Amino acid sequence: MTRTPVNVTVTGAAGQIGYALLFRIASGHLLGADVPVKLRLLEIPQGLKAAEGTAMELDDCAFPLLRGIDISDDPNVAFDGANVALLVGARPRTKGMERGDLLEANGGIFKPQGAAINAHAADDIKVLVVGNPANTNALIAQAAAPDVPRERFTAMTRLDHNRAVSQLAQKTGTPVSEIRKLTIWGNHSATQYPDIFHAEVAGKNAAEVVNDEKWLADTFIPTVAKRGAAIIEARGASSAASAANAAIDHVHTWVNGTAAGDWTSMGIPSDGSYGVPEGLISSFPVTTKDGKYEIVQGLEINDFSRERIDASVKELSEEREAVRGLGLI
Ligand code: NAD
Ligand code: LMR
Repeated sequence: MTRTPVNVTVTGAAGQIGYALLFRIASGHLLGADVPVKLRLLEIPQGLKAAEGTAMELDDCAFPLLRGIDISDDPNVAFDGANVALLVGARPRTKGMERGDLLEANGGIFKPQGAAINAHAADDIKVLVVGNPANTNALIAQAAAPDVPRERFTAMTRLDHNRAVSQLAQKTGTPVSEIRKLTIWGNHSATQYPDIFHAEVAGKNAAEVVNDEKWLADTFIPTVAKRGAAIIEARGASSAASAANAAIDHVHTWVNGTAAGDWTSMGIPSDGSYGVPEGLISSFPVTTKDGKYEIVQGLEINDFSRERIDASVKELSEEREAVRGLGLI
């Protein structure tokens, strides 16, 4: 039986994450090895030529699952019929730019894109926002798409999750495959809180295996939370291949489900769980099944965790107030 191709829209397609992402989508890593895809690339006019070059290279890979590539600088065209949308293109912070300026510049991108998703995307659209500030950009796009169920707008904290898994594996001398139930809470920013109190290392409680609160507070949490800046410092450019990999993981897990006995982290609209104000797009522990996610309930939150979750959520609330003040939501 031939399956209908899934339309995957990628914004910022000519950027560095785009270059690391598109080939993996086309080779079947996003949705599955038996799912044909059509790529719809959105760029600004200055990025169109480079996007065309990338499309030529995609053609040259002769990927059996790739059933077409469209390129446009018009969101209304690029999101037409989209089943999955990866919002990667964003306005980077440049010298002298205040936080408010950054939020306003990104409002100019994510508001029209949200409106185009509302008007043209397929009914089953799933949106992942990667472009920073990812959680608040997702909120802006969501607010501009009132007809799309709000839980379809998500923000990427899977890179933080993967970074935390890797750091914990290294500390405990365990393969990554033995780490489960790690959680990133809050914002994709330096205030995020990677939580190992419910995590498992080879079936044992991770906090007990580590048994070193000083390492947790002074090494693990800052290493994970500031990893993006460390990559920029080392590479002279922000993380691209690992960010693309995390975007693949996020959507793949959302569509295909979490493994039994494990969960993942996603930035999703809060339903008020764990004291996170309703509507904020904050990272939670989630399980996924049949294309839907659910927040893991009933975790006991100790004082160490509570303080850090609250700090990151406070930052998210402030970002929400700022974009509200700018009339973006
Ligand atoms: P990049 O500058 O290499 O590429 C961005 C691309 O977006 C450019 O080609 C640009 O032309 C395009 N673009 C800009 N405005 C656009 C618009 N309105 N519509 C369509 N395309 C547009 O940047 P990059 O390294 O690919 O990173 C992209 C974003 O991802 C940045 O905001 C970065 O901070 C963010 N990021 C997020 C995470 C995360 O974990 N959430 C991790 C790494 C990077
Ligand atoms: C990352 O976590 O690597 C990025 O969000 C860093 C950045 O500022 O682009």
